[in-house]
Amino acid sequence: MEDADSFLFKFKGYHFGREELDIGFIENLDDFVIRESDVFIITYPKSGTSWFQQLLSLIYFEEHRKGIGNLETVDRVPFFEYNFRKMDFVERPSPRLFATHLPYYLVPRGLKNKKAKIIYIYRNPKDVMCSYFHFSKNVTLQVTSSFEEFMEQFLEGKVLGSLWFDHIKGWYEHKSLFNIQFLMYEEMKKDLKGSLSKVCKFLGKELSEEEMDSIVRQATFQNMKYDPRANYKNIIKTRYGLEAKGHFLRKGTIGDWKNHMTVEQNERFDKIFQRKMKDFPLKFIWDMN
Ligand code: A3P
Repeated sequence: MEDADSFLFKFKGYHFGREELDIGFIENLDDFVIRESDVFIITYPKSGTSWFQQLLSLIYFEEHRKGIGNLETVDRVPFFEYNFRKMDFVERPSPRLFATHLPYYLVPRGLKNKKAKIIYIYRNPKDVMCSYFHFSKNVTLQVTSSFEEFMEQFLEGKVLGSLWFDHIKGWYEHKSLFNIQFLMYEEMKKDLKGSLSKVCKFLGKELSEEEMDSIVRQATFQNMKYDPRANYKNIIKTRYGLEAKGHFLRKGTIGDWKNHMTVEQNERFDKIFQRKMKDFPLKFIWDMN
């Protein structure tokens, strides 16, 4: 097991995960040549990245929709800064689809020039924190002995992704620089088909009613959990050489924080949230179900 410090790598004020990070790549990110057809999913960790990777892959690849071929979703929509398959991104055919946790100020220049499309997924930070706690403990084996300790790390931004508050604020406050669509995890939970329509419109993708239904079906929590192309089981095994104690797709619910946080912890979190997010214009409707 590793402690948080050895697990993290700080670069330009942002915490990356040390593992699988190509430092030369992130030092030269600005120069990475972006194509108009590129699509990026941008998230703070544990906000539904894998869910959206699956959706994007189903939108773009007919063979994935039809269940032909066994390519894993991460091979169709790879992580940008954690290129654990060592893909040659420059050689990849268009449209290139990527997932990333990068903060707004570290992304390639082309993205800041509104080249390419970005979908930013965000989720109630209390649920993010709880999901992250289980992920750290049971999947990545980063040491986090108690929920209380993890909450401190999360609120100090001593986790991969740094501070949740900075991530979303940075992206939202600089949205005019980007061609970006914001989407809330909770909205996707409530109405996946509606969210999918919104995203397809943004991406300029026209799909039939039948195709849309097939995508929604293959992107439900239950179907993804047991779909080896989407549930990260093989990847966790390859990366860590063992069966993780927990599942990457753990619960997939709204409001699981209520099963973790004490009244005091919740009040403390709310105070910090109110202070940090004062004047933030995005509306959060977390407790939708
Ligand atoms: P929980 O730990 O709360 O279950 P990321 O992919 O950004 O790491 O986020 C992982 C979280 O998204 C996990 O949350 C996971 O279960 C949830 N998730 C993944 N696929 C989902 C789906 N199809 N529906 C709902 N939640 C999903």
